[in-house]
Amino acid sequence: MPSKMLERVLSLRRGAPQHGEEGSGDNDDDDTADESKTKKQQLPLTTRAANYFTRMGPMGPCLAFLSLTFLAILSLLIFHSRPFVCVSSYNPVSRSGFFGLDGLESDFGSLGVPWCRSKHGKTVEWTPKDLLKGLEEFVPIYETRPIKNNMYGMGFDHSFGLWFIVRWLKPNLMIESGAFKGHSTWVLRQAMPNTPIVSLSPRHPERYLKKGPAYVDGNCTYFAGKEFVDFGSVDWGSVMKKHGITDLSRVLIFFDDHQDELKRIKQALKAGFQHLVFEDNYDTGTGDHYSLRQICDQFYIRGGGHSCFKDSDEARIRSKRKKFWEKAMDIEEVCGADEAWWGVRGYMRDNFNHSNQPISYAQHFQNSRFLESILDVYWELPPVAGPSLTHQTRYDPARAPSPIVEDGRYGLFQRLGLTRLDTSVFNGYTQMVYLQISK
Ligand SMILES: C[S@@+](CC[C@H](N)C(=O)[O-])C[C@H]1O[C@@H](n2cnc3c(N)ncnc32)[C@H](O)[C@@H]1O
Repeated sequence: MPSKMLERVLSLRRGAPQHGEEGSGDNDDDDTADESKTKKQQLPLTTRAANYFTRMGPMGPCLAFLSLTFLAILSLLIFHSRPFVCVSSYNPVSRSGFFGLDGLESDFGSLGVPWCRSKHGKTVEWTPKDLLKGLEEFVPIYETRPIKNNMYGMGFDHSFGLWFIVRWLKPNLMIESGAFKGHSTWVLRQAMPNTPIVSLSPRHPERYLKKGPAYVDGNCTYFAGKEFVDFGSVDWGSVMKKHGITDLSRVLIFFDDHQDELKRIKQALKAGFQHLVFEDNYDTGTGDHYSLRQICDQFYIRGGGHSCFKDSDEARIRSKRKKFWEKAMDIEEVCGADEAWWGVRGYMRDNFNHSNQPISYAQHFQNSRFLESILDVYWELPPVAGPSLTHQTRYDPARAPSPIVEDGRYGLFQRLGLTRLDTSVFNGYTQMVYLQISK
């Protein structure tokens, strides 16, 4: 069974449970889960085999040849019987077999993680330790969520990211664009119990209540249903006045409305807002709207700029990864007509891909220069935990920053309560991003 095999792979990676590890997870804050630090050094198998055959005298080389032939036949048999053994092509066991056990750890960011340069190189104040502490607090909160199945909405990673950012910034007003059944409204409310919310969504979340769980907030002004107004058309001056907001640096905007992010940034800038979070910061070649990730995918950034040459290293690596990660794309999918790789195959998408405009490379490059001129901070939320822990199969770690809980740290994963969650909640990671902007 694949899950049994996975357990074996994981326990190999962890080594034998140490006293106080696993059950209590007590040892996780020091690095005892890192087997490279706890295992005794041994001679490599090949060296030990060579020593053995040398000791056998003249019969040694003959026996060595026979053993190698036997091993070669055995490995051929195993290789060819794989399709009958594997249940799914996204089996994490075959992934670890393919990339090597150590590959799981080094996998993150191996194809580069494009990021947007800020004006003065400023970054966020929080540290990986703060994120870990936040996770410990957030898991029990997440377990009380009213909408257990939030398909098409946010999963665990982004719910945590939004909650964490909001808790850290403590805004005086929270604005959300794209509410669906209200899960993200609920997350905002958990982070700031008494702060007013303004929510914009064409369909009012209460409409979903007829069919099942939804969340409607008591301290939220809804521009929804018949009262819906798009973010770009709201008279923000009068909304701020109504809420008694004079300092726009204390307002946070959360976008999960699948609109061109450059368009949204220009609208937010015009209104004077400074703190923005985008839920779906899609990677180049993917998604239904032009994103920050796509805009900042430029040749001068590591992992940015792409060659559509089918014999390139990137093309080879991508085509292998595609077999293991559902959203990984090979270079032919990244590249469109005339080798256009920027945006989505040379197109700037908007409004859930209902609008799909071609964009020139020069325009795309200009967009990144514009972004750099107004960006004070750019921070991508890392995935919560490595795929051997979450069993996620969708995003490709090669294009993501290292996770908060790294592969191999099962004790910590368990201690944080993450083993209690259904693995499906880890499947929606799309590089949520926090921005600080100014003219
Ligand atoms: C992915 S869902 C949002 C998920 C939600 N944030 C959650 O956590 O469950 C996208 C939502 O955006 C809404 N939407 C579509 N166009 C919009 C627009 N122009 N402004 C705001 N919301 C929009 C859709 O109706 C849908 O409810």
